[in-house]
Amino acid sequence: MPLSDPPDSAGTLGFGLGLRPDHYEAILAQRPRVDWFEILSENYMVGGGKPLQWLERIRADYPLAMHGVSLSIGGSGRLDRAYLLELKSLAQRVQPEWISDHLCWTGVDGTNLHDLLPLPHTGEAVRHVARRVRQVQDFLGQRILLENVSSYLRFTHGAMPEWEFLAAVAEEADCDILLDVNNVYVNSRNHGFAPASFLEGIPRRRVRQIHLAGHSRSGRLLIDTHDHPVPEPVWDLYADAVRRFGAVPAMIERDDRIPPLAELVAELDRARAVAADALRAVAA
Ligand SMILES: [Fe+2]
Repeated sequence: MPLSDPPDSAGTLGFGLGLRPDHYEAILAQRPRVDWFEILSENYMVGGGKPLQWLERIRADYPLAMHGVSLSIGGSGRLDRAYLLELKSLAQRVQPEWISDHLCWTGVDGTNLHDLLPLPHTGEAVRHVARRVRQVQDFLGQRILLENVSSYLRFTHGAMPEWEFLAAVAEEADCDILLDVNNVYVNSRNHGFAPASFLEGIPRRRVRQIHLAGHSRSGRLLIDTHDHPVPEPVWDLYADAVRRFGAVPAMIERDDRIPPLAELVAELDRARAVAADALRAVAA
């Protein structure tokens, strides 16, 4: 079946925020300058109730992107058909700009470990994941985006760097990429590579969305905690990403220690400014 491009193929959707329940009321009362919201799909994969009511009111005024954490595209069991049916039904309800999940696995034998676990970077894993992505895309009737995850270990039999693995999956599956710039930075520090190599290894036309977030330090490791503002090195890497990938829709992800909405809107304004400066530099 031919797959549809996300509607925002020209990269014009702009700057978004992760939608969090703490901000439902403020969003409806203040109508902040946010171009779109990203929802956590699993929070709304229900038949009814308060969260869906909030979502429908917000959807009336803002475009949405759907972002999942339970697809387990790298898992070894069968794809969860009940999950996919619920995902498709939510997509029909909210008409998202695109649907994304993570390049990872999340459990075995129907047990969800609620973590985004890394895959071995091997040709066998590329073929395995790509086959499953194609099944999901055929079922949904559209291309999905896969996000690079942060990791704290590497498999000894990994045969290629992470960026090559991500690019190979995207090419073989014909899917798109959600580039998490913070995760690139975190992994570059944890595994000792140059983040520029990661950006250079990703095909330009595949990147449809960018995540920006903060992290914490724990001993030798950086941990992808999403509980801080975007730090300076991640802003610098975001500017590099805009220079390489252009005006890709970008958003701030905050999942813990969630500040008032106005603080995140101000942080988003910084993203607009960083992107504008980077695009000006490219044009010059
Ligand atoms: Fe992310």
